[in-house]
Amino acid sequence: MHILVTGGAGFIGSHTLIELYKAGHTALVVDNLYNSNPEALRRVAQIIGVDEIPFVQTDIRDREGLERIFATNHFDACIHFAGLKAVGESVAKPLEYYENNMNGTFVLLDVMRKHGCKNIIFSSSATVYGDPAIIPITEECPKGHCTNPYGQTKSMLEQVMMDLQKADPEWNVVLLRYFNPIGAHPSGRIGENPNGIPNNLMPYITQVAVGKREQLGVFGNDYPTHDGTGVRDYIHVVDLATAHVAALQAITRKAGLAIYNIGTGHGYSVLDVVNAFIRVNGVDIPYQIKPRRAGDIATCYCDPAKAERELGWKAQFGLDEMCRDSWNWQKNNPNGY
Ligand code: NAD
Ligand code: UD1
Repeated sequence: MHILVTGGAGFIGSHTLIELYKAGHTALVVDNLYNSNPEALRRVAQIIGVDEIPFVQTDIRDREGLERIFATNHFDACIHFAGLKAVGESVAKPLEYYENNMNGTFVLLDVMRKHGCKNIIFSSSATVYGDPAIIPITEECPKGHCTNPYGQTKSMLEQVMMDLQKADPEWNVVLLRYFNPIGAHPSGRIGENPNGIPNNLMPYITQVAVGKREQLGVFGNDYPTHDGTGVRDYIHVVDLATAHVAALQAITRKAGLAIYNIGTGHGYSVLDVVNAFIRVNGVDIPYQIKPRRAGDIATCYCDPAKAERELGWKAQFGLDEMCRDSWNWQKNNPNGY
């Protein structure tokens, strides 16, 4: 299949491109490079062994830009990663987040519809469950209250696409609710490259390991979990990437609307991750217990059985590989791309 990949220069997009090509698909990337570097696409091309990944630097809110791309390309489906994703920044800049994520997706969907491409895989998040009603979380678990504008955009965009699919059953909409993606391609050539102080756990740990930050703050050790620290379902980004290739099957068999949790089904605490990182990589991670972070929940992990049953997809990598590959990327690229 020929796939339009919005946000393909980013962390998850770049890893997904490799798995798409490995499975025999081709892609064109649209990205405005707001949170990414074209070097990622050059490295992806090297890893795959092609001259280049077709790329157009365009903002998905630029209707004319998208129209030009659709006028000269036929796409079988779109994998839609493009969006702003920093939770804290979304609280400080709600208008920018709503504008980028909502408007960008509206323009994209409208241009796709106009050109008869009605197949989309959307990057959603476990954040749509809020503080989950059931653990492990199944897709039947009701959506919850999102505590920040970033999460609201995911939840609202899911609803927009569900309504669109209901109104026009020619659409195939696959909503992938990612749990906590970490790790990097085992080559160590591509990985997560956050700007400024990392918000998320693993990039913070790797920056402590590489000497850029003094110590990790552990946000709370009084949660009702096995060691008091927050528990999450970490998933290797390469497993997450292959989930997108598997999700194309839902489009091929014209599944209509399909929603999948994409996680491993295992919950690890902050200290489990820190200890695994130290053990696997032989580096020390000094840490200090800090107060809870506003908006955090105690425990979040999924039941990924539906994706296995319907897509034949199951995560292959464990926490050790996630720690190994995160560190391999960071130590070989201490300043990112
Ligand atoms: P990322 O920031 O690395 O990648 C997103 C890409 O989209 C970037 O390259 C950015 O430049 C681009 N972009 C943003 N707005 C754009 C616009 N208007 N037009 C064109 N390009 C635009 O993020 P990621 O971690 O790769 O996440 C990809 C998607 O998955 C996002 O939608 C994110 O919200 C979602 N998601 C990520 C996580 C996570 O932990 N990383 C978890 C759940 C969901
Ligand atoms: C966060 C977002 C979520 C988003 C996801 C993307 C919040 C409240 N939630 O999820 O909406 O979809 O990122 O990956 O921001 N931790 C520390 N010290 C740190 C960083 C994190 O102890 O420096 C802890 C957190 O308290 C949490 C765990 O590590 O228990 C994971 O945190 P993080 O990586 O930020 O992911 P989430 O909070 O699950």
